[in-house]
Amino acid sequence: HMMQQWPRCVRFKLCRKKHELCLLLFALAFALVLISYHYFLRVRVPRWKSTFPIGRRGSSQYVTKFPLQRDQFHIDPNTTEHKVILLWTEFFGSRTWYTNENTFNNCPVKACSVTTDKKRVKDAHAVVMNVRDFSTPSDLPPSHPPWQVWILHGSEPPYYVWQDLRRYNNVFNWTSWYRTDADIFSPYGKYVTRVLSLSLSL
Ligand SMILES: *[C@@H]1O[C@H](CO)[C@@H](O)[C@H](O)[C@H]1NC(C)=O
Ligand SMILES: *[C@@H]1O[C@H](CO)[C@@H](O)[C@H](O)[C@H]1NC(C)=O
Repeated sequence: HMMQQWPRCVRFKLCRKKHELCLLLFALAFALVLISYHYFLRVRVPRWKSTFPIGRRGSSQYVTKFPLQRDQFHIDPNTTEHKVILLWTEFFGSRTWYTNENTFNNCPVKACSVTTDKKRVKDAHAVVMNVRDFSTPSDLPPSHPPWQVWILHGSEPPYYVWQDLRRYNNVFNWTSWYRTDADIFSPYGKYVTRVLSLSLSL
């Protein structure tokens, strides 16, 4: 029987003609994949996420436990001494770290404020960096006054830290991490009761 098929020579000719174009397209596609990997996975999640203003998206997903029991902080919940916390990096593309004006609702100390204004780095009491939103020591503030607390935040296990933390030895004062031995214990995710029971036949 007859099959609808291009003759060999035509196929070969087409291929030869388009050979260079194919190669170019392949190279472009490869470059695009590399660039997307770098920007979307290694460095930042898409920019549009960072346009949410404070208050648009308060997340109950993140639970921050302030270490009130730990002696080294000497926190007086009744203090009126105002403390400024500067969010230096983004948090996975969010300039505001998905916080809102209710950030301190569950904190016994009320005399704190959060800012994203980098110009305030000179008077911020604490400066917070998310480990996944900077890539070299030069991304950090240019100077570190001795009274200023630099906090390294991370929500991911070591495999997803994506940088060599040995470069930051003696740079940070506190950790804010999912580990219970962090200075500020910040886990995320939670267990919830299922609405429907799961039928299992084991
Ligand atoms: C803080 O103020 C409350 C209410 O006035 C008081 O009951 C509490 O003892 C104070 N705590 C400290 C540590 O001073
Ligand atoms: C934070 O760490 C830096 C560098 O080790 C140190 O110079 C500074 O005194 C520390 N600041 C506080 C408030 O502990």
